[in-house]
Amino acid sequence: VHLDYELSALLAAFRNEHLITSYLGPLRPGKEAHIHCCRRPDGGYAILKHYTPVSLRGFRSDAIYDMGTSFVQTRERRAIRDASNHGLQIKLKLWTANEYRNAQRLRALGLPVPEPLGHIGPAILMRMIGGPDRPAQQLREAALSAAEAQRLLPRLQADILTMLQQDLIHGDLSAYNVLWHRERHWLIDVPQMVNATVNSAAHELFIRDCVSLLGHLRRCGATIDPLGWATDTWERWASGKILRADAAIADGY
Ligand SMILES: Nc1ncnc2c1ncn2[C@@H]1O[C@H](COP(=O)(O)OP(=O)(O)OP(=O)(O)O)[C@@H](O)[C@H]1O
Ligand SMILES: [Mg+2]
Repeated sequence: VHLDYELSALLAAFRNEHLITSYLGPLRPGKEAHIHCCRRPDGGYAILKHYTPVSLRGFRSDAIYDMGTSFVQTRERRAIRDASNHGLQIKLKLWTANEYRNAQRLRALGLPVPEPLGHIGPAILMRMIGGPDRPAQQLREAALSAAEAQRLLPRLQADILTMLQQDLIHGDLSAYNVLWHRERHWLIDVPQMVNATVNSAAHELFIRDCVSLLGHLRRCGATIDPLGWATDTWERWASGKILRADAAIADGY
């Protein structure tokens, strides 16, 4: 297999940190990042998600998403603004660091997110759901029955509420960014997660997330009014009525 220089360097770095033992190959062409499969020292599998400058073409506008740039230095901020190659590199690293930190935060809340294992430069390593012979499906590929969709509905609503209770909005929630494996769901692709209290587009993003994901379940046959639920939930959050107890409506697995 021909590997580009940066990927080879990243694989060597993750190997040095004893996070992977070998490279198994690309999993699928992601729209924004390159997704690769690796073996872990314990014999399990890891996903290496590699952002390249090409990824930036697909990046969502910084005006909509928080880039978490408040901690970068002035010189770096200037570099990001002037879109120099140096700026691009910083942006990719920030985006990757955001994804790692967000995944850790969501897992700490008990949400079903693949365990983040490490991040180096423009790449994040996480536990693979499924294996190379049977990778997890995207929810949109899963052909859920109406009964399955109905069972999944309160679990996804609970996840959305758990995040909102902490003022968090995924920001790119859809049947592409939820995986389905052995009757369980996993939330992925979290670099753009936003804070509802500081992001001016938070309301719009929240409604879009809910309509996109819950709309998919509705099309599978679940009984839900996605826009109505989203609007009502947002109003309850905005008036301080989203309590931790609300997030416990799912029975858990
Ligand atoms: N931890 C994982 N376990 C198994 N498969 C994964 C994992 N992470 C990502 N994938 C696979 O790679 C795909 C792309 O991942 P992700 O959504 O994080 O990247 P992306 O660049 O945003 O891609 P896209 O823009 O196409 O959504 C997922 O839909 C899934 O099929
Ligand atoms: Mg995605």
